[in-house]
Amino acid sequence: MTTSLRPVGVAALGSCLGEQILTNADLEQMVDTSDAWIRERTGIVQRPILTPGRATSDMALDASRLALTRAGLAASDLDMLVVATVTPDYPFPSTACLVQERLGASRAIAFDLQAACSGFLYGLVVGERFVASGAADSVLVVGAETLSRITDYQDRNTCVLFGDGAGAALLRAAEPGYGILAGYLGSDGSGSQLLFQPGGGSRRPATRESVDQRLHYVHMNGSEVFKQAVRGMEDAAARVLELAGLGLADIDLLVPHQANLRIVEAVASRLRVGHERVMVNIDRCGNMSSASVPVALDEAVREGRLKRDDVVLLVAFGAGLTWGAVLLRWS
Ligand code: UT7
Repeated sequence: MTTSLRPVGVAALGSCLGEQILTNADLEQMVDTSDAWIRERTGIVQRPILTPGRATSDMALDASRLALTRAGLAASDLDMLVVATVTPDYPFPSTACLVQERLGASRAIAFDLQAACSGFLYGLVVGERFVASGAADSVLVVGAETLSRITDYQDRNTCVLFGDGAGAALLRAAEPGYGILAGYLGSDGSGSQLLFQPGGGSRRPATRESVDQRLHYVHMNGSEVFKQAVRGMEDAAARVLELAGLGLADIDLLVPHQANLRIVEAVASRLRVGHERVMVNIDRCGNMSSASVPVALDEAVREGRLKRDDVVLLVAFGAGLTWGAVLLRWS
């Protein structure tokens, strides 16, 4: 997918994290693990956890309000609101509709999009198509997750990984040569059982047995997903650069999905991007699925790590399997 119509850029960002902190020391009290193992194998030190009683739409709302305030745009001017999530408030209606109502985005069409950890990038590409074609002027794309609610805190293979947060990006028309230069998305359903939540859908609806069997939590073949994630993100990065007619040396900042520090480092090394040009927040945030990339991008902007003309590469991989990359020239 290349951008051939009007250019589309990120006009503003906002993000929000779960208010409570779950440390490695806390996890040592819950499962057979250690701070040393978690740091060495994942790079994670702590993760934000949402306060009981709050839900995904609450964080999505906070992140959305911040993005709109920073852009100076009224919610009533939004044309479209997309929420990427695997942890919606309800199976239906969409979390996007809940956010739309509370935000006061009365004119916006609102829908959820599900591509797991790649969801925010899928949302960016969809939103970009609407703005590029003129079908919409202002699109808010949100990645929001409360993974702690589907994490099995008896399973040490997964419970050390996940955090809760939300990030929002406002897409609007950009100056020529700026904004989204290219987007690339990929999917492969043959890996659907490598990372999934077996219970709660139409195949295995919630029953007493499904709860007893712990089917409503994340199940993952970690080492297989690890290998595919490195390959998938490297491939997505190469393809998006090719679409934009740019090379590895043009990347000023890499903002990868924060699944595991070893995955981030392997991808950066394959792309020959030095650590000073890689955005990392997994130590504080863990893996927040679709929220990882927008939260990391917002933090990069707030830390002054992006200046006008910089080329930023967003890349992600997740359940589905899904993957994607978006290349932007910052304005
Ligand atoms: O978000 C998108 C997709 N998700 C990912 O990309 C995640 C990808 N996977 C990973 O990040 C890693 O595979 C994990 C962090 C999940 C696991 O790390 P690993 O280096 O692949 O470990 P492993 O699964 O191969 O397990 C190695 C050993 C096992 O023990 P044995 O069988 O060798 O005795 C595990 O039982 O480490 C053990 N182990 C742990 N030990 C202490 C697994 N989890 C833990 C733990 N604490 N939390």
